[in-house]
Amino acid sequence: MSAKSDIVLVSGGAGYIGSHVAHLLRASGFTPMVVDSLVNGHGFAAGPGFRQGDIADTALIRALVRDLRPVAALHFAAFIEVGESVAKPAKYFENNRDKAKIFFDTLASEGVDKIVFSSTAAVYGEGDGLLTEAHALQPVNPYGQSKLAAEEYLRGLPGMASVTLRYFNVAGAAPEAGLGEAHFPESHLMPRIVMPLIGLPEKLLAALGLDKGFAIYGDDYDTRDGSAVRDYVHVLDIAQAHVAALRYLIAGGKSDIFNLGSSKGTSVKEIVAAARSVLARPDFSPPTLPRRAGDPAMLVANSDKAQGVLGWRATRSIGEMIESAAAWHRSETYRNAILGRLA
Ligand SMILES: NC(=O)c1ccc[n+]([C@@H]2O[C@H](COP(=O)([O-])OP(=O)(O)OC[C@H]3O[C@@H](n4cnc5c(N)ncnc54)[C@H](O)[C@@H]3O)[C@@H](O)[C@H]2O)c1
Repeated sequence: MSAKSDIVLVSGGAGYIGSHVAHLLRASGFTPMVVDSLVNGHGFAAGPGFRQGDIADTALIRALVRDLRPVAALHFAAFIEVGESVAKPAKYFENNRDKAKIFFDTLASEGVDKIVFSSTAAVYGEGDGLLTEAHALQPVNPYGQSKLAAEEYLRGLPGMASVTLRYFNVAGAAPEAGLGEAHFPESHLMPRIVMPLIGLPEKLLAALGLDKGFAIYGDDYDTRDGSAVRDYVHVLDIAQAHVAALRYLIAGGKSDIFNLGSSKGTSVKEIVAAARSVLARPDFSPPTLPRRAGDPAMLVANSDKAQGVLGWRATRSIGEMIESAAAWHRSETYRNAILGRLA
């Protein structure tokens, strides 16, 4: 494998986070080559040099690696819906664990010895408070369990240098690059708050389950304002962490795990207040419903390790996440992508 290659194989790069990372890689002097089955991704996000295919198609991945000689791989491809993973655990273990193992094995057998892996705070499970990477790993749903299994397999691969990035709540978009979140259905908090406030067609909101508006689940938690606190990170900050992780591995860094969060956290009520102000919707006053079972009061990353080793920290504000998400969800590209799925 040539140490001078600037080519990086990006699985799942037609999805939300992978497409933003590929975009930043291009701007940082790398050449990302996306492989994605488009099971949940989008053609608009795939970028130049895109190859459609499954990560478990060993013949395809082997041919791609032989052809491109990438310096490393970034692995985003996975299913991400926690609720669905509870209803259909086998689907999640097959894609997120078993296919990831096949993908890692194929890469390793072809001489790719550096991988950056997208993991999640869901591997911590019941955590409450400010979590370091040493926090107990007790995922409470098949999504988190399947991601943890892939993490552990990757760490055990002989000769492989890997960086595992455990993201907390990723939000925001890069509308200037024609990129943003286009999940179907949409279960993430930020788009669920923003989208009903920006005048999108009723048909689109209904299809995404957003036509009933947003509600705050629980305002009696032991937090600064009673609502649950989570850790939101702008997708472009997440992308910068990937570029830093890649450079770290190329420089000979050893396998490691990093939390990616803001280290402070934001309450649901604070996001509601920010949305009110950024989107000029003083009338936005969502109802409060009882707590949902299993929702911890506070889930926030301690990201000191990423700052110390990778020189990374999240810099973009909640306001920037809301503003960029609103601009993205108003765009023709977004509407066409979702309405195309409904047609
Ligand atoms: N979105 C978040 O807030 C978040 C938080 C923590 C971790 N993550 C992790 O980040 C990664 C990306 O998440 P996302 O939000 O961009 O999801 P996404 O669904 O938008 O993107 C995933 C992409 O992977 C592709 N894919 C899935 N299975 C595949 C397969 N077997 N072969 C080829 N392509 C396949 C899909 O078509 C899609 O384009 C996932 O691994 C997820 O676990 C996401």
